[in-house]
Amino acid sequence: ILKAVIFDLDGVVTDSAKYHYLAWKSLADELGIPFDEEYNEKLKGISRMESLELILKNGNSETKYSAFEKEKLADRKNEHYKELIKEIKPSDILPGIENFLSELKSHNIKTALASVSKNANFIIKQLQAEKYFDYIADAASVPNTKPFPDIFLVCAKNLGIQPGECIGIEDAKSGIEAIHRAGMLAVGVGTLSEMAEADLILSTKELNLNHILNKFDIKL
Ligand code: G6P
Ligand code: MG
Repeated sequence: ILKAVIFDLDGVVTDSAKYHYLAWKSLADELGIPFDEEYNEKLKGISRMESLELILKNGNSETKYSAFEKEKLADRKNEHYKELIKEIKPSDILPGIENFLSELKSHNIKTALASVSKNANFIIKQLQAEKYFDYIADAASVPNTKPFPDIFLVCAKNLGIQPGECIGIEDAKSGIEAIHRAGMLAVGVGTLSEMAEADLILSTKELNLNHILNKFDIKL
């Protein structure tokens, strides 16, 4: 039985993943550390500080900065990111997402947002998408980021629905793993190589309830 669909934000509801990349890229350039879109895939779904650590690791610079300096570097990236996401507007919701969310609502299927980003609420406001979600997880109160299942489990719990009755939608490898560890089926909307573990791979445009129900052979 399908009772809820839980969405990642960055790269699923809107293309804010590209702004995370741009902000990290300019920090890495300043620090003289190699960083490209392929390496960036590892950062998707994980926290700000974990992302910074991975970037520093790529430049063999993990031990070059004190904890305090690392905080400052992460703040710098975030300030830049916040500048970039100010431009986000309702028309930046990815194609197919609004239709799918409305379709879920009309079938009484609950929806939640499972983003570990501390900027998630701001982006949802920019998109004017609050109305679509029955529950939005608070990233600050979830101890472990993806690939741990925590944020998906918190969503299910707050919706009052068993994890086995939820589907998760993700664009990151770490996110697909988190969904599976939460005991849910995973729909992937990312690149084929990153989505290898997903139970179903679609573009956001192709998201539709019947397709998913048929594919997974589940009922409402
Ligand atoms: C999401 C993104 C990551 C980002 C993380 C934290 O999971 O996929 O790329 O690092 O959120 O975002 P924040 O806005 O809190 O720095
Ligand atoms: Mg994502």
